[in-house]
Amino acid sequence: MWGPEGLDEVEAELLGPPEELKGRDVLELGAGAAQCSRWLAAQGARPVALDISHRQLQHALRIGGAFPLVCADAGALPFADASFDLACSAYGALPFVADPRLVLREVRRVLRPGGRLVFSVTHPIRWAFPDEPGPEGLSVSGSYFDRTPYVEQDETGHAVYVEHHRTLGDRVRDVVASGFRLVDLVEPEWPAWNTAEWGGWSPLRGSLIPGTAIFVCVRD
Ligand SMILES: C[S@@+](CC[C@H](N)C(=O)[O-])C[C@H]1O[C@@H](n2cnc3c(N)ncnc32)[C@H](O)[C@@H]1O
Repeated sequence: MWGPEGLDEVEAELLGPPEELKGRDVLELGAGAAQCSRWLAAQGARPVALDISHRQLQHALRIGGAFPLVCADAGALPFADASFDLACSAYGALPFVADPRLVLREVRRVLRPGGRLVFSVTHPIRWAFPDEPGPEGLSVSGSYFDRTPYVEQDETGHAVYVEHHRTLGDRVRDVVASGFRLVDLVEPEWPAWNTAEWGGWSPLRGSLIPGTAIFVCVRD
């Protein structure tokens, strides 16, 4: 699943035709509980699920799956050059790092020539709106151009959650400057069947403004 709209890889085929996933080495970044790796393994691919959070990987372990789980920072990948055919990430790692080019350059390094990276993030336009599912989430409340990160702190002042904003242009430049060719930028529309509300995502907002941006990149 690429995002809350419900677009899944069966429908999107952004990693390529499903029959070509068999036997492919795939790196999932910011895997969380490794839902994507589990699906990839079921297609016959050979996924590796990577996340910086040990706790998330414990959930992955509990749910199960016959593929490796790796606890590491996406900006310092513990793999040899040219180890993977594909890399993917659904809302993983990239929105949470101050230097996304570090991550993208690392992914490029571990991909084989011709390899593909597909990653989804919150659509940058959402930064300008309140994170509310109802009508209050439809009026601009901040600047789209303000790159000051969103930070939540605990009572001692330590940052416990940080999200970094990049404009759409920033993201395109990050991809290109890191040595990838951008071949598609998918903005899934909210489908009629999806009546779920989740955080700031809802049928109301989804029918008016995009919620997810999916970047399809090739390492030439
Ligand atoms: C919003 S969750 C997405 C999880 C999963 N991809 C999914 O679709 O449910 C973001 C994940 O990125 C991970 N993450 C954040 N920063 C990271 C980093 N620098 N390196 C690796 N993983 C990171 C978090 O631990 C978290 O599991």
